[in-house]
Amino acid sequence: MTELAIIGGSGITQLQSLQIIRREVVHTPYGEPSAPLVHGLLHGRDLVFLPRHGAGHTIPPHKVNYRANLWALSQLNIKNVVGIAAVGAIHREMDPGSVVVPDQIIDYTYGRNHTFFESDLSHVTHVDFTSPYCSRLREALLRSASACGIGIASSATYGATQGPRLETAMEINRMERDGCDLVGMTGMPEAALARELDICYASCAVVANWAAGRGDGPITMKEIKSHLETGMAKVHSLLYELMLIV
Ligand code: HPA
Repeated sequence: MTELAIIGGSGITQLQSLQIIRREVVHTPYGEPSAPLVHGLLHGRDLVFLPRHGAGHTIPPHKVNYRANLWALSQLNIKNVVGIAAVGAIHREMDPGSVVVPDQIIDYTYGRNHTFFESDLSHVTHVDFTSPYCSRLREALLRSASACGIGIASSATYGATQGPRLETAMEINRMERDGCDLVGMTGMPEAALARELDICYASCAVVANWAAGRGDGPITMKEIKSHLETGMAKVHSLLYELMLIV
């Protein structure tokens, strides 16, 4: 049975080397997921792939139906989810093109459907979110990176912003004071919803650019695209290796 799913972000709307078996349209009580779920084989193992921004990369971060995505995966009995996410780097040592496995989150998003626990409740529920990512899957990602010789930062705080605009330089200064090392738009509520469904979730962040005010000038889509290509090549090798150990 398939137990691992990858949610692909910007720069990874499809998974090279995934041998596609079938596509499945799943309906959920929360609406439609971003795309049909792709069932396939990677390194000879079962995998489900879901492009977060839709098959044609048309859904912006604040419009992603995070609840439908996680619910659909959970309905298929998926136990482990790796969320791939493009980020900007606030920390000076997390260069564009590098890959980071964050271990903490600060959530600055608003107005997103961020919980399954809001109606028809038999009792009020609060999930523990002290450590927002699943340590077992984080460790598996770190071991995979080391097995394929990819240098990876193993501890970082991900700041989730609303988007779709990028941040101001002063917003980034404030985020740095708060303790953020990375900034991205899709890490929340994805991680929290996975926890509510008891899915083991970890994030693999690909640094696409220096965060606002930290590079030489304005952030360009050209720069983002080029660094994402470098980083995604690393992610592909890493996922290939991960298939052997989860
Ligand atoms: N900010 C927010 N999200 C991002 C960035 C950024 O600089 N780069 C890639 N995703």
